[in-house]
Amino acid sequence: MRRKIAAGNWKMNGTSTALGELVALSKALPLNAPEVVICPPAPLLFRATEAAPEGVRIGAQDCHMQASGAFTGDISAEMIADTGAGFVIIGHSERRAAHEESNADVRAKARSAWAAGLTPILCIGEALDDREANNTLDIIGGQLAGSLPDGVTKTNTIIAYEPIWAIGTGKIPTLEQIIEVHDFIRTRLIARFGKDIGDAIPLLYGGSVKPDNAAMIFEAENVAGALVGGASLKADDFAPIIAALAAS
Ligand code: PGA
Repeated sequence: MRRKIAAGNWKMNGTSTALGELVALSKALPLNAPEVVICPPAPLLFRATEAAPEGVRIGAQDCHMQASGAFTGDISAEMIADTGAGFVIIGHSERRAAHEESNADVRAKARSAWAAGLTPILCIGEALDDREANNTLDIIGGQLAGSLPDGVTKTNTIIAYEPIWAIGTGKIPTLEQIIEVHDFIRTRLIARFGKDIGDAIPLLYGGSVKPDNAAMIFEAENVAGALVGGASLKADDFAPIIAALAAS
């Protein structure tokens, strides 16, 4: 059976008072809970790993591609690992857009995450223009080929498909569209890495996942979980999404 993963991306939200949500979340987890990862803002990482109760793991939202050096304001994968975090989101569309991160940058970040022992949650996704021009699969194929380094194993990488137009908008693709893209990603992964590895890599859906649409999204065979933004901030919202994943 494939891993199931519910990852929460707090983005630039939350101060130390938000750490109480980790405990609340762990109390609300179902018995057969999937892997749960919370990615708080970087200043909270140390405290989050200390506060994280059983069943909740911690990740960062970005890392630099270099291990150290004159990069003011940046954070290396090694520093993230030093906090006790085990995961790092890379290539999120908000960083690709606001920080002009290219596929090559994301590829280098994946390598630096691996070198530090972190599991990257690597994001890909098309813009609305691409979707409307029927270019979705071309864009996704290009991002996969360009962002994912060689060296992927069955366990060292998680991929999140997040259509940019669905992030923070309350709009989500139809189940058919979700199935189409995740099946396409699976086919590409198998073609590149072989059946054993390609079949095992967890694929998450992200973009306006909420308690009331989660069960529908998890019907897609190749969806192994979700990367959740807004609805991961409060345990009361995230717990039902995790329960829907556990029941899928
Ligand atoms: P959202 O964000 O759930 O608030 O749409 C998802 C994401 O950006 O990872």
